[in-house]
Amino acid sequence: MPNGSEQPTAYGEGDLTYEDYLRVKDLLSLQHPQSEPPHHDEMLFIIIHQSYELWFKLLLHEIDTATQHLHEGNKLQARHFTNRVVEIMDLLTRQIHILETMDPVDFLQFRDRLAPASGFQSIQFRQLEYALGLKDESYLEFFDDESTKRLKQRLEQPSLRDAYYGMLAQRDNEIPPKTAAPSQDEDPDEAILHTLQELYEDPSSQHPLYLLTESLVSLDQQFGLWREHHVRVVERIIGHKRGTGGSSGVEYLKKTTTKRLFPHLWNIRTYLEGDRVNDA
Ligand code: HEM
Repeated sequence: MPNGSEQPTAYGEGDLTYEDYLRVKDLLSLQHPQSEPPHHDEMLFIIIHQSYELWFKLLLHEIDTATQHLHEGNKLQARHFTNRVVEIMDLLTRQIHILETMDPVDFLQFRDRLAPASGFQSIQFRQLEYALGLKDESYLEFFDDESTKRLKQRLEQPSLRDAYYGMLAQRDNEIPPKTAAPSQDEDPDEAILHTLQELYEDPSSQHPLYLLTESLVSLDQQFGLWREHHVRVVERIIGHKRGTGGSSGVEYLKKTTTKRLFPHLWNIRTYLEGDRVNDA
């Protein structure tokens, strides 16, 4: 670039460009509306779903790293990554509302073209659930052989929840390893609740663990909020119509909003007493 120009000057020796590095051409060639002629809003619909899938890819990347840190007992490093997951989930929760700028009748003009495709078939979403600890095997039957194989691998790997409760069990012999990864349907586990009560009633005694635990609560909350915002948007757009994936639609989605990744971290609030050790 000429001297004195306002234009940026080239930095470095290589000839890598922004377009090449990010494969922008490839990325921008992946939007193919099904409607004929293409309905204006179908571009929004495609791009919003594609961007979710990209973020899901990053979420899996971050969750795997957080899980690995938990296995190694690195609480604050794990929290560094779970905090990032919380921020991304927050963005994803807000992002769903862009779809509300689409009039219900506009969506109906191309919705039939999408069937039987549905977010229900998002393999990365199921991988996310499994990676976090919601290991519901009944979803496997909806995927082809290759996807089922990938999902089964996820099912067999320890999840973030497994790693967290495993870490608690290592610290506290009272927690039997078998009950270290409780499912959401199980009754409160006394040993885990006891450990958590100690932690919550005196956070400064184990501050890294406390910070990590609260980050997991935020993560759980954000995941649940995404479900709630999604179902609200779905109801606003298609009411109580059946889903393109074949479910009852809003009725099915409402039932998923009660799923919790770390039920004990919510339960413990009920049992806390206000007389903290360091306030005495
Ligand atoms: C017009 C907007 C949308 C509508 C009307 C809609 C509708 C639905 C419906 C009815 C279901 C239930 C399954 C079925 O029978 O199809 C579903 C599931 C799902 N959708 Fe959406 N959706 C919309 C946008 C999105 C977006 C932007 C995403 C982002 C990836 C998404 C992801 C999902 C996921 C992951 C599920 C499975 C949830 C579960 O089984 O827990 N949806 N959607």
